[in-house]
Parts: sequence; C-alpha cells; structure tokens
Amino acid sequence: MSMLNRKWAAGVVVGVGALLLSACGSSSGSGSGSGSGGGAISLGFAQVGAESGWRTANTKSIQDSAKSAGIELKFSDAQQKQENQIKAIRSYIQQKVKVIAFSPVVESGWDTVLKEAKTANIPVVLTDRAIDSPDKTLYKTFLGSDFVKEGQKAGQWLTKEYASAPGDVNIVELQGTTGSAPANDRKKGFGDVIAADPKFKIVASQTGDFTRAKGKEVMEAFLKSQSKIDVLYAHNDDMALGAIEAIEGAGKVPGKDIKIVSVDGVHDALQALVDGKINHVVECNPLLGPQLMDLVKKVSAGQDVPARIETTETEFDQAAAKTALPQRQY
Ligand code: AHR
Repeated sequence: MSMLNRKWAAGVVVGVGALLLSACGSSSGSGSGSGSGGGAISLGFAQVGAESGWRTANTKSIQDSAKSAGIELKFSDAQQKQENQIKAIRSYIQQKVKVIAFSPVVESGWDTVLKEAKTANIPVVLTDRAIDSPDKTLYKTFLGSDFVKEGQKAGQWLTKEYASAPGDVNIVELQGTTGSAPANDRKKGFGDVIAADPKFKIVASQTGDFTRAKGKEVMEAFLKSQSKIDVLYAHNDDMALGAIEAIEGAGKVPGKDIKIVSVDGVHDALQALVDGKINHVVECNPLLGPQLMDLVKKVSAGQDVPARIETTETEFDQAAAKTALPQRQY
C-alpha cells in the first residue's frame, strides 16, 4: 500500500470517527454492500457526531428505522468534522451504495463531493441540516426543521416574558457549531424578533459547539466578563444544561437570577424546565428516521419526492414539560 493510500485508509478507519463504516442495518439485507444488485437497499449515512442528546436520539432513530425498513445501513460518525464527512461520502460512492444521506456539519463546501455522487448516479438526501449551495440538483430533498422559525419562537417567548420590563434586558447567547445551519438560522430568527425593541441587547455571543462541556466553559467566561446578565439564549439544550452548572457554580440561581431559553426538548432539559432551572424550550425533533427511510425507498426507486419536508414541532412551558416528560423517549 502506498503512503498516500495508507494515510487515506487510516483517515477512513480512525479519522472518521472510529469511522463506524459498519453495516448497522438489517440482517435481512443482501449483505453484499452493493446497492446495484437485488436485495436490500444500501444506504450510506454520514452523521455529524455525538455532540448532544438530540444527536444521540437522531442516530438511534435512523438506526432503528433502517432496521425496521429492511434497509442496509452503513453508518459513520464524523466527530463534528467536515473533512470526515467528506471522506465518508467518498467511501460510500466507492462502495456504490444505492442512496447517500447526511446531516451536513456546516452549510458550505459540499459541491465537489456532491458532484462526485451525482456523476456516480447516487441520489443524495439531506437530513436535519441544509447546505447553502445554489445548485439544487446536487440533492433530491431536504428533510428537517426550520431553524429560523425555532430562533423566532425563542425570541417571541423572550419579548413576551419581558414585555413590561422597564430597562435594558441583557442577553448572552451560546451559539451552536460555527458555520452550521442551526447556529446561523437560530441566531438570525432570534435576532430578527428581538430587534423590534432596542431594550433587548445581546451583550455577549460565542460558540459552545452544541456540547454541554463547552456550554459550561463559555458561560463561566460570560459570568466573569459581564456585570449584568438577565437571560441566556442557548442554541441547544446541552449547552443550556452545561451553562446551568456554571451559573450554579457562580452562586446564582438558574431560571430566576438568569432566565434561560433553549432549543431541542431533550429529556434532561424538560426536567430542568419542570425544576424551574430553564424557563422555556423550543422543540427540534430528532426522530427523523422513519421519514428518512421512506424517502430513501422512494428516491432509490426513482420516484419524485418533495424538495423540502419540514418537521412538525412544538414548544414547552413548565406545564407542557410536566405532561411530556413521562413519555419522552430521549
Ligand atoms: O442540527 C440539530 C442540532 O444539532 C440540535 O439542535 C443540536 O442539539 C445538535 O447538536
């Protein structure tokens, strides 16, 4: 094996995330790994990583639904790195899977690899996160949430909550992964709504990479650098949960001294809402597996599918969280 090939192989096996390039799907599949013959449809899925409770639930939904649908799933975890996702997609092209699906870690930089998939006649489905390419022929459909709407909902909750506040409302923002669709769109949706009243001021805004650890670390820095914080807007629950630890560590009461609004609706965040540590949660639904498998079957059969399929979502106040908690699967 040449040095170059050895490096590439190491990249695939190790770099792509303990690159679980394994078939995790149906045992009823053809087992050939090829989508070109008879038997099960082979689906190569390039996941973002395992950064949050939302992502864990999303991965489980995809793996479980592939199994029930009899789809042979080849799954990779990119550890939040675009280069790992690109390597995984290239390996799926080499393996001649029938369909490729992925949740792009960031919005830009996909055209080259998606053109390679198109040339190989492998249809691509985007799920959860979108890309910003103007070339809409590079993928068949996009299944996922409207992240701008989610940011708007967070902003609307905030403007209502502080409608009668006389002075400035100082907000700190924990952004998701830099360059990702949910970080860009949730920031925009929230910013557009609060812009209607100049008393709402984002006094600090930084990425917490959608993880609990980073959310805690960045909130600790905010608490040191800002003399007055009224509200934390977290682009996801995991960062909010990490921030709660930081707020408590600083001797303040989350949900009271600093109000918190976040996005996702994972079990731990709904529990924190019930406990009064979070004040509002905007839902982002991770259970995309069944709809994804349906789309995979359709595109692999050459059927037309809608260009955009939006996920249905709700919001949680404390009462709604209490009701939802016992049945929450993730
Ligand atoms: O793309 C969806 C976002 O990614 C979720 O809100 C977040 O928790 C995840 O990491």
